[in-house]
Amino acid sequence: MTERRLDNPITATLAGVRDQFRPSQPIGQLTDADRLDGRTALVTGANSGLGKAIAIRLAARGARVLMACRSGIPEAGEAVRREAARLSPPTSPRVEMRSIDLSDLAHVGRFCDRLAADGERLDIVVLNAAVMPRSDRRSAQGFELMFAVNYLANVALLHRLLSDGVLPNTRFCPDCPAPEVTPRLIVVASEAHRSAAPIDPARLGEYTPYNAVTGMAHYARTKALLIALANHLAAALSEGGEVEVAVHAMCPGAVNSNLAREAPVWVKPLLSPLMALLFRSPFAAAEPAVYLACAPELDKETGLYLHLMSRKEPADQTRDPELGAALWRESLALLRPHMDLPTTP
Ligand SMILES: NC(=O)c1ccc[n+]([C@@H]2O[C@H](COP(=O)([O-])OP(=O)(O)OC[C@H]3O[C@@H](n4cnc5c(N)ncnc54)[C@H](OP(=O)(O)O)[C@@H]3O)[C@@H](O)[C@H]2O)c1
Repeated sequence: MTERRLDNPITATLAGVRDQFRPSQPIGQLTDADRLDGRTALVTGANSGLGKAIAIRLAARGARVLMACRSGIPEAGEAVRREAARLSPPTSPRVEMRSIDLSDLAHVGRFCDRLAADGERLDIVVLNAAVMPRSDRRSAQGFELMFAVNYLANVALLHRLLSDGVLPNTRFCPDCPAPEVTPRLIVVASEAHRSAAPIDPARLGEYTPYNAVTGMAHYARTKALLIALANHLAAALSEGGEVEVAVHAMCPGAVNSNLAREAPVWVKPLLSPLMALLFRSPFAAAEPAVYLACAPELDKETGLYLHLMSRKEPADQTRDPELGAALWRESLALLRPHMDLPTTP
């Protein structure tokens, strides 16, 4: 069932603010002893907002962080390194930047080629990058941009990372050596996914125009697709009971970030102070993603969904295995004319 309260920017914003003040039961809390030394983390959209804060917090816990960004190179990397060093003296954080434009599948392919050629082995992947355009426009391959960046490029990225063994597993990459620690994949979603209309896999990729108001429903749909993807992969990568890659999704709550950068000019004078006053800082909002990436008590877990720090069930349709499998199939069918994807499950 859809929840209509989140299907326009105003109700979604108000709901996001209210959720922060609701009593909740946190899933757990990291301590300073929970470190990521020796692990490599990839964070998309790490030059800004939530992604930058996640990169800082992972680097401060000792991870080598690859910031996958389309802008802010190299200054965002410098800023992340500085801030992580400030949080965890006397260590020298290891932060590197990689260029990726998720609105162009050719770019995504080249990004994956480089990771594979460099022999990267990722322990943590955080799919964070997203857009919320003011109105519909097309990606390089002609898909609607929000669908392309928020969802389809992530399918392409994951399919390549898994089949190249850059994200180690034997389901997609049978000869891949087992990693010492189970890799973790974290999908940054949104509670807005609950207002997504029922998804028809046969219509995936259909171009639908939208504006600043109706766009919220499309944003919600991209997040529902992402959670369905996470749930599908969580099941596929733990068949037989052993978790090969842990796959989790989360909503950070309302974040004072640049996500509403394309909001209409008449909304901005109201929105900016409201966000600064009532929304969480990116640093605070990064907590669930960092927890999912790091918590030792989650070692054998997969398929979690966190809203803020509370465990929840995501919307029914995102948990439907048949829909998840159909979406995976249809997504690969949309991608194949544009990308050379290995034939894997
Ligand atoms: N803000 C909220 O209240 C809120 C609530 C729930 C969930 N979220 C989710 O949190 C995540 C982070 O968003 P945010 O709030 O931190 O917004 P943000 O500050 O706008 O960050 C979005 C990031 O995505 C990147 N990105 C956009 N298009 C890209 C492309 N074509 N290729 C590569 N990277 C691209 C941006 O890079 P550029 O700077 O180069 O554009 C930026 O780094 C998103 O998944 C969002 O849906 C946010």
